[in-house]
Amino acid sequence: MCGITGAVGLKDISNVLFDGIRNLEYRGYDSCGVALMNRNSIIVKKNVGGVGDVYQKENILRHSTHLGIAHTRWATHGQVTRNNTHPFLSCDKKFAVIHNGIISNYRDLKTRLQKEGHRFDSDTDTEVIPHLLEKFYQKTSDIEASFVQTLNLLEGTFALAFITHHQPDQIYCAKRESPLLLGIGDEVKFIGSDFNAFIDHTKNAVIIDDDEYAIVSKDGYTVKNFVTNQEVEKPITRIEWDSETSKKGGYPHYMLKEIYEQPQTVVKALEVEEKTLNRLVDMIHKSKSVQLVGVGTTYYVAMYANYIFSALAGRYIPAISSDEFVSLSPADKNSFVLAVSQSGETYDTLSALKHAKSKGAKTGAIVNVMGSSISRMVDCPVLQGSGPEICVISTKAALAQMILLTRTALKLGLKDKKLTQKAYNGFMKSLKSLPDIIEALLNERSGFIHRIAHQHRNVKNWLYLGRGVYYPIALESALKMKEVAYVHAEGMPCGFLKHGTLAMIDPDIYSIVFIPPNSEKVLYQATLASVEEIRARSGFVLGIHFDERNRNPDLFSEELILPPVPPVIAPLIQMVIAQLFAYFTATSLKRNVDKPRSLAKSVTVG
Ligand code: G6P
Repeated sequence: MCGITGAVGLKDISNVLFDGIRNLEYRGYDSCGVALMNRNSIIVKKNVGGVGDVYQKENILRHSTHLGIAHTRWATHGQVTRNNTHPFLSCDKKFAVIHNGIISNYRDLKTRLQKEGHRFDSDTDTEVIPHLLEKFYQKTSDIEASFVQTLNLLEGTFALAFITHHQPDQIYCAKRESPLLLGIGDEVKFIGSDFNAFIDHTKNAVIIDDDEYAIVSKDGYTVKNFVTNQEVEKPITRIEWDSETSKKGGYPHYMLKEIYEQPQTVVKALEVEEKTLNRLVDMIHKSKSVQLVGVGTTYYVAMYANYIFSALAGRYIPAISSDEFVSLSPADKNSFVLAVSQSGETYDTLSALKHAKSKGAKTGAIVNVMGSSISRMVDCPVLQGSGPEICVISTKAALAQMILLTRTALKLGLKDKKLTQKAYNGFMKSLKSLPDIIEALLNERSGFIHRIAHQHRNVKNWLYLGRGVYYPIALESALKMKEVAYVHAEGMPCGFLKHGTLAMIDPDIYSIVFIPPNSEKVLYQATLASVEEIRARSGFVLGIHFDERNRNPDLFSEELILPPVPPVIAPLIQMVIAQLFAYFTATSLKRNVDKPRSLAKSVTVG
């Protein structure tokens, strides 16, 4: 859950690395460091803090050089201290290493190295790597051979890179399970955890696969497999995203920018080719059992899809949190496991898919990042095309996934004759109206949402309540509040209230209730009954509803009234409102919106 980058070629590499790791800060941001090749030595500068702070504190830009590597960290092994910050040096300071992942056998390796006289400065797993390189180089005087020997000793997961004073014009890197790419510019070559590391400089990338290592210089690169020792031909992948879409574009935070990009994101999700979705529909159709997996926001997206597949296709497809999938072990050779993942790198979801594959199941994924591990490992990948989502909090990617899963459910319903063509067309028409409706809401309602978020910024406990398909919306919306504002928020089905939670209701517990359009009579009335239960106990209720003509100040403490919309898009609109509510609560509380505490965009550890 760290970001790594490196570059070789230009004269002002410290500058280039600065942009690279700043673009990767969403992967981790508690400390960062660089190793720069100098004529006589390797200069290592590192410290605790964000990229901007550390660059300034350590005055890194004053070092001009042609080659370097950089790392931004999200601590897993060892506290957030300067000593535990990457890069790490060997005893003779000739090797500098950065790493993302976990070396699971580092304790054994470290004990052995210490016995042989190697001195360690940190508590990290990574630090064994420069010492192993140094040890093998002392024996072989061959950098590449020492690297291969080291890689074959490492257990666990890694995307790692090193530079060495013995070969001052090359960057060495390797990968197992953690993502790693090369960026291929004319005059300059890069390495990075993802495209964002070099998107400002080149759109040509080479995706490194598991058990491969690369030697990168200004003029070229070689990729080999460190298990078979064979050279590997690698195709160049052209990145579709441009660097401008990765930038903030005048918004104070990426989160707000990405919330406002949702009309376009929905359009993109609606443009994903029919034939891609038809393949997915076929896989679902012919599989005896199907499970959806995701974690965090994507688990709630999967739960949402569970309701949508039941409602639109008459097919029960349970959602399982990726981290619980192995324990439940529901897959076999007749199953199809459909993962949902923005990054395509989440450890828990990767593990669930691997487990499913090991049981002989077929796999698919709705995924945003092209070339990511998940997109490449599944039988049926669907790229959602939402563009880069930089804020750690997922907004636009989740909405796009919901649209794609709804389209899939509609197609399945049609295929299985649970829906008529007319009904299908009607639902599609409703989906197509969503971008304009979101656009209007964002423009017209954000002032009001800002006001109520600010007014209630000091509320300590929120209950988020919904019934049916509004229940996963309540869960996802509560997660947004926790993640970005650090305010306790609990998502719950309305029906749970009378099974214990009502005992908690008093004027200090605030509730947000997601109310369906009144055309969904049964759900609507049952939801209002829950509102009554809370009000009867003097609880505060913010009702988000579509009843323009029926303001109900007696029932709601606060109302957020939306124009009537078709039921299939109603929960999605309420989710967008809840994203803004969490965002404005967070800004009122002066939270670090794009990089909230204790969270990383891509959780690549278990
Ligand atoms: C982390 C992120 C969440 C995200 C989840 C799944 O917890 O902070 O925002 O929902 O991982 O990530 P994925 O990339 O697989 O969608």
